[in-house]
Amino acid sequence: MPARKIIIDTDPGQDDAVAILLALASPEEIDVLGITAVAGNVPLSLTQKNARIVCELAGKPDTKVFAGCDAPIARKLVTAEHVHGKTGLDGPTLPDPEMELTDGHAVDFIIDTLRAEPEGTVTLCPLGPLTNIATALTKAPDIASRIQEIVLMGGAYFEVGNITPTAEFNIYVDPEAAKIVFACGAPITVMPLDVTHKALVTKPRNDAFRALGTPVGVAVAEMTDFFERFDKEKYGSQGAPLHDPCVTAYLIKPELFTGRHINVEIETCSDLTLGMTVADWWRVSGREPNATFMGDIDADGFFDLLTERLARL
Ligand code: RIB
Ligand code: CA
Repeated sequence: MPARKIIIDTDPGQDDAVAILLALASPEEIDVLGITAVAGNVPLSLTQKNARIVCELAGKPDTKVFAGCDAPIARKLVTAEHVHGKTGLDGPTLPDPEMELTDGHAVDFIIDTLRAEPEGTVTLCPLGPLTNIATALTKAPDIASRIQEIVLMGGAYFEVGNITPTAEFNIYVDPEAAKIVFACGAPITVMPLDVTHKALVTKPRNDAFRALGTPVGVAVAEMTDFFERFDKEKYGSQGAPLHDPCVTAYLIKPELFTGRHINVEIETCSDLTLGMTVADWWRVSGREPNATFMGDIDADGFFDLLTERLARL
């Protein structure tokens, strides 16, 4: 089976960093054509820098990294320094990147790549607000039918919101973008909080990262040590939810996840529920299914895979 060609669209973010590391550690299954940075957890100036820091941490300085949109389509940017820290990668002390940004805008890279590669052979993996993806779809509607699959982290149903009572951060930051993406017609697989809140970095799991004894293992343990305090305080959980690595783990071992093919719509009008993913889990709306919405994960299998792959870097 040839490696799957993907573009990772990301707003690093400690959990984005682990998702990128997992992808770069798995060349048999994943061919990272490029990484596109978007404003989200922290402003674009930091997410594009953090993406390069992570590529160098993985020992892959030749990875193409592009800067994308610095603000949502129609709203002011909301960031999450309260979760990820001022730099977006608080925790480990990592050197500034030496690798340069690749010339060109992220949106044009997404469009050009989908047009250049054979139809249905490129998967988009958004790990942050969907601004870059939606902007590409608006600028070049022809690419929608060329996308193999969109596998994204975002949304919630049973878990409801983490940034408001009803909305998950990635969708909340740019709900107009999310509406465009969920209506584009490409196959969509969603890793919502319903799954990621079951992928908790408990102490034994974080100890296993640290016990790798490598710069990557120690850095991931230190990222998690920082990143977990928000969720432990808020939810009283046993550790940080590793949201974004669920996307790349799905590409390697989809059997770790179970979900339903249902209709998912995005709230873009109500101030009260802005950014809510209205997931028709019980299929009561009669609306056409447009996404595979994951509901469960084999968490032990996920962490075994993650630890084994991080050990390779
Ligand atoms: O709500 C969690 C999501 O928001 C994750 O992708 C995290 O990195 C932030 O972007
Ligand atoms: Ca993210």
